[in-house]
Amino acid sequence: MSKVTVVGAGNVGATAANVMALREIADEVVMIDIKEGVSEGKAMDMMQTANLLDMNTRINGVTNDYAATANSDVVVITSGLPRKPGMTREELIGVNAGIVKQVTESVLAHSPNAVIVCVSNPMDTMTYLIHKISGLPKNRIIGMGGALDSSRFKYYLSKALNANPNEVEGFVIGGHGDTTMIPMKRFATLRGIPATELLDAETMDKVVADTMVGGATLTKLLGTSAWYAPGAATAEVVEAVIHDQDAIIPCSALLEGEYGEKDLCIGVPCVLGKGGIKKIIELDLNAEEKELFAKSAAAVHKTNEALPC
Ligand code: 2OP
Repeated sequence: MSKVTVVGAGNVGATAANVMALREIADEVVMIDIKEGVSEGKAMDMMQTANLLDMNTRINGVTNDYAATANSDVVVITSGLPRKPGMTREELIGVNAGIVKQVTESVLAHSPNAVIVCVSNPMDTMTYLIHKISGLPKNRIIGMGGALDSSRFKYYLSKALNANPNEVEGFVIGGHGDTTMIPMKRFATLRGIPATELLDAETMDKVVADTMVGGATLTKLLGTSAWYAPGAATAEVVEAVIHDQDAIIPCSALLEGEYGEKDLCIGVPCVLGKGGIKKIIELDLNAEEKELFAKSAAAVHKTNEALPC
């Protein structure tokens, strides 16, 4: 029996739980929230789709009852405030750090062996905070941002290439921030054909720029943070762990010398499977990419300085 807990049954948490259930990624998904009745209601609503959609995952919703999350294989933390239009993810640090700390302690008290997937923003800094307060082995803490940013990169690439999004490959490294993420144009492909061969430099630069503000664009349109792609990207990360897929997904991982950085969580390509991060893939970055990565790392370090620990 596999069990996943999603802390926070807001838009992102509930969408992640729903995608996991529909794809039957785990046998049981527990949603927990501080708001009375919200998790219970959303879980009941989702379970009422079971017969319609031939879904076999069991979804339970609870209010603040961490005992119900016991022995989860993976715990997803989405708790905290989402950003409003015009806000950066970094501005959320004050409130969200306190919430993420308390949630981490509560989930680990009941699931001491779980892999933690951090979604809360500012995501790289919250992932780092979980490392600091939990003392867990580094492989067991995964920041989700790169999975989402890479999916947005592939979306904008597919639009520019006028291609099926499923034919496009590409990934994003660096911080999960409007100015810190690094869409890797050199490695983007359409079925193995380098996208740089198919798009002129100006179009490619626009794809990169649109990707970087992909979250902000949606926040402006929706009045709050996006949830469909963030939820699906979270489910992708959980699936890789639960099904021991050895999937290569860019995630925020604790660096200890890789890419010339240490004491920092930031997006890098990771091999995900049983136990969490099995390996960090260290790319041989060119001079331009090295410079972008160093700038991105410096910005994430700076945000981390605002942490209370
Ligand atoms: C986003 O980029 C939620 O940070 C998330 O949409």
